[in-house]
Amino acid sequence: MTRSHNRSSLTHRLRYAARNPRRIVPFLRRTARDWRLRQQTGGDHIAYYRAVMKSDTARNPRGAVGTPTQERWNALGKMQFDYLISHGLSPADHVLDIGCGNLRAGHHLIRFLEPGNYHGLDISPDILLAAQRTLTEQGLQARLPYLTLVNDLRLAHLPAGHFQVVHAHSVFSHSPLEVIEECFGHVGRVLAPGGYFDFTYNRTGGPEHQVLREDFYYRPGTLLALAAAHGLEAHVMDDWEELPHQQSKIRVRAADTQTVASGT
Ligand SMILES: C[S@@+](CC[C@H](N)C(=O)[O-])C[C@H]1O[C@@H](n2cnc3c(N)ncnc32)[C@H](O)[C@@H]1O
Repeated sequence: MTRSHNRSSLTHRLRYAARNPRRIVPFLRRTARDWRLRQQTGGDHIAYYRAVMKSDTARNPRGAVGTPTQERWNALGKMQFDYLISHGLSPADHVLDIGCGNLRAGHHLIRFLEPGNYHGLDISPDILLAAQRTLTEQGLQARLPYLTLVNDLRLAHLPAGHFQVVHAHSVFSHSPLEVIEECFGHVGRVLAPGGYFDFTYNRTGGPEHQVLREDFYYRPGTLLALAAAHGLEAHVMDDWEELPHQQSKIRVRAADTQTVASGT
């Protein structure tokens, strides 16, 4: 699959508009809204993206996490859950879901894990309220998940060495490199020995770019090198590429726990 288009280039935009004329007005509306939100939030990415989520969630919480229909929301949540199961997730594991949204994958994880073993965090109060609604609709109150609002990805409120699985689906696809770097700088502390951190991202084979500061496109080598610079061992998950999903996935482990796990 080729993912080399630079979506910020004028040529790409004009070609896309010619192919999808009905999307021109919504795109212009989104461009105007995003410009206004960027002015209001003064260059702070987290404040800006929180405002984007507020606006999108008010319209449709399922759409705010990228799947406007119930059918697609169900499919994308199940895909994430099935992938973790196929990689050996156990009910006794502790899972940290970074950018948990309205529990698209979270509700499967909460049902599967032992009570109290699911921790979701997000920068958006509006989507966390939607997450509470999902929890109620799904009848999962007794599973006692943790849902926490955060301002950054320093993970300072979480215990060291606690999580067998840390998961961030479709979060770094909306994150500038400094946000990803902040996460890499702290995720190793909360990983249990042998634990891993999976994240998806928009892959490009061409120049790295962003669109409206909402969607970010990275070369895999950039993220692998950044992980290594933070003492993490990272590799591309080839089996994820077989699934019908636009983004790619990388798995990261703390380099020292990798040594413990392999006994070398
Ligand atoms: C596309 S949604 C995906 C939600 C969920 N992971 C899923 O797959 O259903 C992205 C989510 O990440 C959250 N988010 C974006 N940047 C974040 C950050 N730096 N820290 C925590 N959450 C973030 C957004 O508020 C949003 O809920």
